[in-house]
Amino acid sequence: MLDKQASKKSRIVVLISGSGSNLQAIIDGCQHRQINAEVAMVISNRPGVFGLQRAEQAGIANVCIDHKLFASREDFDKALNDKLKELNADLIVLAGFMRILTPTFVTNFIGKLVNIHPSLLPKYPGLNTHQRAIDDGESKAGVTVHFVTPELDGGPAIIQAPVSIETNDDASSLAAKVLIEEHRIYPLAISWFIDGRLSLTHGKATLDNEILPSHGAKNSSNAQ
Ligand code: GAR
Repeated sequence: MLDKQASKKSRIVVLISGSGSNLQAIIDGCQHRQINAEVAMVISNRPGVFGLQRAEQAGIANVCIDHKLFASREDFDKALNDKLKELNADLIVLAGFMRILTPTFVTNFIGKLVNIHPSLLPKYPGLNTHQRAIDDGESKAGVTVHFVTPELDGGPAIIQAPVSIETNDDASSLAAKVLIEEHRIYPLAISWFIDGRLSLTHGKATLDNEILPSHGAKNSSNAQ
């Protein structure tokens, strides 16, 4: 009976490259039943990162597929692809996963692949988002959860959260403020997907059968 119930749970695979604080928020969300799913496996492309320890501590299966051991990006993506096909997860969550994925890989998992990016996309795709926002004299930074499409950081937004940039902020103080919002909105977006409320339909992020606007869903702390 217990086995039957457990097998019904949706399964998430989380891909990481580092500290895994977003992974932790997702693990906590599952444990506290905000997310009606289990983290089936954590995969890192870097050995020895703290996120793997977090998985271990939570009793979650984890593996490193070290990208440095592969001759090409395509070979690495093929290994990752094969592992994910074997796991047959309901959702693949990129949580600080710092590898660009090939279009072939992304296409194989389209609609089941989400990412969190530390900027208010379409502003500041790519790296060093916080420093670039400060250097440009922006008054706001933030975070975006989005569906992954072959265009880097270009898939439809699911939810964003803004954060004010104060005059005394540097990249690390800003990153810390943005992370607080990351840990709030990522479990929320994942719970929508797992509950069947959120999908990528005809290339658009759709929540409760409504196509979301370009900045994603309304967010209670979103001052837009
Ligand atoms: C987070 O800020 C996440 O938004 C960012 O990496 C950090 C990972 O932190 N992701 C990207 O920059 C993806 N392009 P974490 O390992 O503590 O979750």
